[in-house]
Amino acid sequence: MVKKVVFLGMGGTIAGTAPSAGDNVGYTAAQVGVQQLLQAAPGVAAALGGHEALAEQVCQIDSKDLAYADWDALVKRLTHWLQKPEVAGVVVTHGTDTLEETAYLLSRAVPSGLLMHKPVVLTCAMRPASSQTPDGPGNLADAVAVTLCGRVHGVVVVCAGKVHSAVQVQKVHPYRVDAFDSGEAGPLGLVEEGRVRMLSGAPIAEVGLPAVDMGRLQAQGWPRVELVISHAGASGALVRALLTGPDAAVAALRGIVVAGTGNGTIHKDMERALEEAQQQGVRIVRTSRCAYGQVVGGSPSERPGSFATSTLSALKARIALMLEIAAQA
Ligand code: SIN
Repeated sequence: MVKKVVFLGMGGTIAGTAPSAGDNVGYTAAQVGVQQLLQAAPGVAAALGGHEALAEQVCQIDSKDLAYADWDALVKRLTHWLQKPEVAGVVVTHGTDTLEETAYLLSRAVPSGLLMHKPVVLTCAMRPASSQTPDGPGNLADAVAVTLCGRVHGVVVVCAGKVHSAVQVQKVHPYRVDAFDSGEAGPLGLVEEGRVRMLSGAPIAEVGLPAVDMGRLQAQGWPRVELVISHAGASGALVRALLTGPDAAVAALRGIVVAGTGNGTIHKDMERALEEAQQQGVRIVRTSRCAYGQVVGGSPSERPGSFATSTLSALKARIALMLEIAAQA
């Protein structure tokens, strides 16, 4: 039976153009439509193997400028397409800069019933579409191979021949084509000459987490959760500044995620300010600013249990806290 693969375009470098084909850095992201990207990727037709492609532009942005409305729109279109029996899965073209945040959000916000059997494959590029040697066309073909391989479900990221889970993936390099890493977990799989080789038996979709009611979240607005980093010479000033307001431009602060030193420890002056924030009803979550590993237990220099701890990266812990606060509102 002929299936459909849906391509949703979000923008990014994969859709970027530069004044000259030799320029891989001085380009403008989000210029080329997703339909055009498919036409410029000869490997996609081969990877589709007779299955049908359907392209839709959800937005056209540099992902550093991503707004909650863009996530709302993407979740809505994914939910629409994944419900259709003839759709095998969805490929999302996206900028690399906030890709890991969108991947994590989708893994929590797309109804889990739809992710149990179908893949949502995010892909991207580090070089613009106008490059002499673009990486986007190969990544797109690999994303189709992963979508149709029948062994992947849930939200994954495909880049430079690797399949990453939405929970583990992080952008680790500002320039290299192989810019993503899954830390100690490693990639879930590889794409080699169009063939998918899975490496991990780990479940791809997150299980056991409360379902996100996107309709409710959109109606009440995304809760404001900020991110701070503890560092040598840190003070409480930034945290205290966050507590002032709200004013017309920003909503009241509901949470702070701290990227702590080492095992999630926090400079004592910043920690004091965070305790004040917590006393005012602001939710505090502690993470580690280390690239690898996760916060383990409590270290002797901490008062155990004073702040909640997350094993996610600080960026993903921020999204998780927003979803948790929204669910409790
Ligand atoms: C973006 O994130 O939209 C621009 C950078 C990139 O895709 O590599």
